Amino acid sequence: MTMHRICEMHAAGEKICMLTCYDAVFARVLDDSGVDVLLVGDSLGMVLQGHPTTLPVSMDEMVYHTACVARGNRSAWLIADMPFGSYQPSQELALRNAARLMQAGAHMVKLEGGGWTVPIVQSLVERGIPVCAHLGFTPQSVHALGGYRVQGRGAGDADQLRKDAEDLAAAGAGMLILEMIPAGLARELTKALSVPVIGIGAGAGCSGQVLVLHDMLGISLQKTPKFVRNFLEGKGGIQAAVQQYVADVKASRFPDDALHAF
Ligand code: KIV
Repeated sequence: MTMHRICEMHAAGEKICMLTCYDAVFARVLDDSGVDVLLVGDSLGMVLQGHPTTLPVSMDEMVYHTACVARGNRSAWLIADMPFGSYQPSQELALRNAARLMQAGAHMVKLEGGGWTVPIVQSLVERGIPVCAHLGFTPQSVHALGGYRVQGRGAGDADQLRKDAEDLAAAGAGMLILEMIPAGLARELTKALSVPVIGIGAGAGCSGQVLVLHDMLGISLQKTPKFVRNFLEGKGGIQAAVQQYVADVKASRFPDDALHAF
């Protein structure tokens, strides 16, 4: 999988299927099941380490898990999250930390937020590091956002989201994740932007879908959000469940706007 192919899929309306992944075994299972993009998310702090938020995850932990996933992966596009505090202080630090993830085997790094992140995205892209942006509910800002809440609901918030998305794409972000925003707004942004838009809790109108692996397998320690479906229920095994997820995303059977309360 290449960024060129992912952009072709976006342009052709072919759904892009992404899952989080944190180790070599699952990387092989997901890759063999046809998942297009593996995301080494800092959600590993919650689903693997048992923390209540993603905030405690360190750079060293992200590098370790990225290297594990890279060893198991054969063909999927591999994105690694830049954890909290690894890109906020300065562009120089962001570049050094993004380089560590790329050297561990990532093809692209992901960072959260808009506005202040734009020059960081631009400087990474200029130096040959592909960047995925992440807007809407941004888990690293959970305390500032007042908890796990839908974003972009009011007219002002929606306009800010539109502007952030346009600015990030103009700065060179090659992909955008939209988390927990109204389905109509996600659909509109997906149509408006030239870059692939991947949704999570953002309805069925995005170029593709991402879920946290442990949530879609129903093995998460935390309460799972309403928009998640347990793909392991009633299935023969993990691989069959992942194949069903791939088939449902590709055929636009998941997500379903009717299950989407906002
Ligand atoms: O860390 C993560 O798993 C993520 C996804 C929820 C998009 O950022």
